[in-house]
Amino acid sequence: MKILEDKILAEGQAVNADILKVDGFINHQVDPKLMQAIGQEFADHFKDQGITKVATIESSGIAPALTTAQALGVPLLILKKQPSKVLNTDLYQTEVSSFTKGTSYELTLSQKFISEKDHVLIIDDFLANGEAATGAIRLLRLAHATVAGLGIVIEKTFQPGHEKLAGQGIEVYALARIARMEKDYIEFLR
Ligand code: G4P
Repeated sequence: MKILEDKILAEGQAVNADILKVDGFINHQVDPKLMQAIGQEFADHFKDQGITKVATIESSGIAPALTTAQALGVPLLILKKQPSKVLNTDLYQTEVSSFTKGTSYELTLSQKFISEKDHVLIIDDFLANGEAATGAIRLLRLAHATVAGLGIVIEKTFQPGHEKLAGQGIEVYALARIARMEKDYIEFLR
């Protein structure tokens, strides 16, 4: 997506070979116009898949997931992170370990908002090692919902997330794909 790549080149910062800082327009200060265009792009791509709900993992995925849900005309589910297992039988929950952050948490979703009839599109800001997305899929499958696909704003193709998810039969659609980074240098895969 050209406007996203241009924005990343103009305002993103490759901190090192692994981490891209996008806090000026995606995950700290948010650019609403860009988010609107991102949501429309995801909605256009997945429009024929019978999506009933969009899901994201709090917190940075919420902005692009909301504009996608709005463009598709369906509700947004925010999968919540809890520090440890919750003793609540009305919740689906699964443990996620983040390689990027070196932390783990319980990902949770209230049973009342999901059923086996749902076709869910998962949206997130980054795809790195794919642990968060894999956890989201596990959680939705506990509810016997169908995962219709995964929409990613920025994929780092040199990390194993895409392969891990495609290997589970999930369609991954990424709007900007970064092939390589160095400090202050970003190369896209086109
Ligand atoms: P993982 O398997 O290593 O955990 O990778 P995953 O793709 O699940 O990403 C883990 C977290 O790290 C995510 O945030 C993701 O947004 C963030 N992240 C990964 N790579 C980058 C990067 O290059 N730049 C930035 N800025 N963030 C990155 P999260 O834990 O879901 O938290 P939140 O930011 O959504 O609150």
